[in-house]
Amino acid sequence: MARDPIDPVELVALGAAGVTVVGGLGAAVAFARDSSPQLQGGLLGVAFLAFALALGLWAVRAMPGGTAVEEREPLASAPADRRAAVAGFERGERVLGRRGVLISMLGLGAATIGGALLVPIRALGPNPGRKLLRTPWRRGRRLVTDDGRPIRPEDLAVDGVLTVFPEGDQSPGDAQTLLIRLPDGVDRPRAGRQGWSVQGCVAYSKVCTHAGCPVGLYEADSRRLVCPCHQSLFEVTDGARPSFGPATRSLPQLPLGLDEDGHLVARGDFSDPVGPGWWGLSS
Ligand code: FES
Repeated sequence: MARDPIDPVELVALGAAGVTVVGGLGAAVAFARDSSPQLQGGLLGVAFLAFALALGLWAVRAMPGGTAVEEREPLASAPADRRAAVAGFERGERVLGRRGVLISMLGLGAATIGGALLVPIRALGPNPGRKLLRTPWRRGRRLVTDDGRPIRPEDLAVDGVLTVFPEGDQSPGDAQTLLIRLPDGVDRPRAGRQGWSVQGCVAYSKVCTHAGCPVGLYEADSRRLVCPCHQSLFEVTDGARPSFGPATRSLPQLPLGLDEDGHLVARGDFSDPVGPGWWGLSS
């Protein structure tokens, strides 16, 4: 059986589908190798363009076109028409068989692009699990300055403030804490937090609950902490409750105690997760 001459347009469509596969795979490999975003985006763009070209050519050439008219009379086809129909069907079978390769290639191109688009999900990083809910503070861990010096309550003047860290982990991360010594009788601890201060010393997370800036300014006159980023104010004598600005959540409090040498230690982790308020919490 003689084969139809190969249609050059179909060849172009087939080639474009091949370029789609190469472009999609290239984008995935470029992402895996940490190549530049320009290269990743360029390859993905080439894949999309080639896919569009292949689909367009396939639609123009492979899909039936023109106007179809169904004659009502005569109802029975003439023998010559039937022979012509059979011949046309057989010819169509051959054409469809060849176009099956093109359709498969288009399907492969679509799957490749889909796979390339899924690969960047890896960029979301590892599942943090419960790490975001905990800090290095543990029961019995000493409070130390950034140079590792442990602290006694009397080292701090009344209305003095000091940034402290868990001993052995002085990196300024989620554990950075403000230690403030309040005058006697001004602190109004939250229910269940009686005994969390030692000789007027209270400790709150230094990470702002609005957007995570370090809450580094303490106004001794009003006993407020000020976040310099968007001016949220936190009432230190009232559980570091936000009283102004965009922050809606109190700064988490660290329960304090003393070790046998009279140094300040934590009696556990913070009262709440530290940092921005995307936890859906309010307190
Ligand atoms: S980060 Fe503190 S107020 Fe915005």
